Amino acid sequence: MYTEQVMDHFTNPRNVGEIENADGIGEVGNAKCGDIMKMYIKVDNGIITDVKFKTFGCGSAIATSSIATEMIKGKTIPEALKLSNKAVVEALGGLPTHKIHCSVLAEQSIKAAIADYYKKQGIDPEPIVGKILECEDGHCH
Ligand code: FES
Repeated sequence: MYTEQVMDHFTNPRNVGEIENADGIGEVGNAKCGDIMKMYIKVDNGIITDVKFKTFGCGSAIATSSIATEMIKGKTIPEALKLSNKAVVEALGGLPTHKIHCSVLAEQSIKAAIADYYKKQGIDPEPIVGKILECEDGHCH
């Protein structure tokens, strides 16, 4: 049911933890399953130099947040904003259909952390980041 990459990132997640004095912190949740993902980023000169996450959730949520942190580390903010949940699922070699929504948490938590980064600098993040979606019934709108 799960690919080797999913099992690898679930059993050995990368970049777990918190960043002290993070430049941006994003937290998103799925109201239906109750899973929560928290993403911390460090930004230097527009580049995401460090990223850590904490996920209280299912295995797919842990695997997607783990691989998503690897995919944005060292990238510019515009590059990180382009990371879609689809790209995350592809990088994991696929997820079962009923687990696709878990990957949306990874995309949204990164966007929320970047939005927080802009807010901390007094910049309205919405025109840059867009809306942070809420997952209410297992599907994010
Ligand atoms: Fe809740 Fe996967 S079942 S995020």
